[in-house]
Amino acid sequence: MATERTLSIIKPDAVEQHHIGGIVSLIEGADLHILGMRMIHLTRPQAEGFYAVHKERPFFGELVQFMTRGPVVVMALEAEDAVARYRKLMGATNPADAVDGTIRKAFGGSIGENACHGSDSVENAKVEVGYFFPGYQTL
Ligand code: CMP
Repeated sequence: MATERTLSIIKPDAVEQHHIGGIVSLIEGADLHILGMRMIHLTRPQAEGFYAVHKERPFFGELVQFMTRGPVVVMALEAEDAVARYRKLMGATNPADAVDGTIRKAFGGSIGENACHGSDSVENAKVEVGYFFPGYQTL
């Protein structure tokens, strides 16, 4: 297994509900090392740029609106097989389908407001880590 980096975002719903600590605790408990961490309030262009791959989707406007409504916490995580391991820890995109022990089962509310984001491939992880942590995208 290769050492990888991946991007995690604690979304506005989870920040508003005071779940930053709970989510960080699950991440550290899963032996995913936090290399970098910042709380930021995304601007509309930042959110649109980050989710550009989804711009043709019907939910794009709703997604950008949600992601800019309050602060988020962005983290660069590092571990062996970090991309897949963090996605497993997050659970299914729709919290209704997420299994026990996952972030979205514990803290997600709906498919749109699902507490966290994680990069979906090693290739995208490089782009996403670089988007918020320039210079951290490669090992
Ligand atoms: P995320 O991992 O941040 O990547 C894209 C996001 O779009 C996804 O999590 C969901 O929160 C959101 N999303 C996916 N499908 C829908 C949907 N049908 N309605 C609203 N938001 C959605």
